[in-house]
Amino acid sequence: MKDLQPEQIFDDGRGINPDNAQQPSLKRVLTAFDLVLLGVGAIIGAGIFVLTGIAAATKAGPAIMLSYVVAGIACGFTALSYAELAAALGGCGSAYGYARVGFGITVAWIIGWALLLEYGISSAAVAVGLSGYVNNLMQSIGVHIPTALLNGPTQGGFMDLPAFIVISLIAMVLIIGVKTSARLNKVVVITKLIVIGIFIYLAAQHINTNYWKNFAPFGWQGVMNGAAFIFFAYIGFDAVSTAAEETINPQRNMPIGIIGSLIICTVLYIVVSALLTLIAPYNTLDVSSPIADALLGIGYRIGASIVSVGAIAGLTTVILAMYYGLTRVILAMSRDRLLPRQIAKVNHRTHTPIRIILATWLIIGLCSAFVPLDDLVSIVNIGTLAAFTIVCAGVLVLRYTQPDMPRPFKVPGAPVVPFLGVLSCLYLIYHLEPETWLRFFIWLVIGLIFYFSYGFKRARKPH
Ligand code: ALA
Repeated sequence: MKDLQPEQIFDDGRGINPDNAQQPSLKRVLTAFDLVLLGVGAIIGAGIFVLTGIAAATKAGPAIMLSYVVAGIACGFTALSYAELAAALGGCGSAYGYARVGFGITVAWIIGWALLLEYGISSAAVAVGLSGYVNNLMQSIGVHIPTALLNGPTQGGFMDLPAFIVISLIAMVLIIGVKTSARLNKVVVITKLIVIGIFIYLAAQHINTNYWKNFAPFGWQGVMNGAAFIFFAYIGFDAVSTAAEETINPQRNMPIGIIGSLIICTVLYIVVSALLTLIAPYNTLDVSSPIADALLGIGYRIGASIVSVGAIAGLTTVILAMYYGLTRVILAMSRDRLLPRQIAKVNHRTHTPIRIILATWLIIGLCSAFVPLDDLVSIVNIGTLAAFTIVCAGVLVLRYTQPDMPRPFKVPGAPVVPFLGVLSCLYLIYHLEPETWLRFFIWLVIGLIFYFSYGFKRARKPH
């Protein structure tokens, strides 16, 4: 079977777009509303459906809602910075693409290497979250999956089989090259919003304020640790910025899309986390499907099942988006010769990078099967926060080094806002576990060794 080089594939609906700068410019069709939906679709996932419970039980208590406020503000600063780079540097890639054009190949490598964690490991983490809801739904129809097949070895089981199956199915979908159509995405996003609406409606009728008597059992430190953990729930808004080239009037619509989707998610997260801790004692929420379990706890069996179905649909599209993003970043990096070009060959028939998908399937699948959820989440968070820090710092550097560059959208309040973005991302990193810092440090060292022994010599100059 003949393979195509990554450069040969264009985003013509048949395959993966490797962020090729020579491609004809894309049609501007997306409105602000489309961008908001795109953002909400990529953002709402395991964070709110699973991690809220874990974070409330083990980190912040009912004050988890404040953690959502803090993480939301940090993301707000970053989102504005993303919007500026997306509009100024263009391209349809992720932060890797902007870094390559704006800051040179070494910074691009570091960002790309961090994004591999964001996209790869978050796919695994969301799959583990999805597994909890699959189990919940199975139980409600009387099917009991053995506990050994729901948890990895460190949690007393053998492996998380549903998570592994989900990753395998999604890898197959990506290999076949099925793209989520804009319409399907809209349907899933609206389903997600409806099930969240159902939860809010049902929970609001069973509030017990006694559960808030001990509002912040772990103090401010706990709130911040919670913020660093549930930061995961906000990941995905960066996806909006990748649509800069396809947006009508990006100057106006891009910030509306990015900030609008963030505001909607922040409000929903605060309301849902507040209600969750008002209908169940916070210390009972460290379970794999807390939103559905809490509804069961107040007597809504059918409501719980509907929420589970909605969560499964919603989480599936988040994994699809993240996994797709991963293949896209790897393609872009291998096109720049930072990664071996052979792995990025795109299959002639399916127009998809089968080798990348299979190689990453193995890694993501094994992570989802054997690594505990909170370890996956922490490593995703630190990788993403590192990339976000560079994005915010990048805005500051470019304002200084290239003051005259055309910027269709400018961060309001610069340089203060991007600077606050840098500080808040670093502050959240500070509130992650030292173990997580160490793991990320090791990841960076491996990346730099690989870069200086491989990519540095071969790298193509930015276009
Ligand atoms: N924000 C996404 C989620 O919560 C990654 O699943």
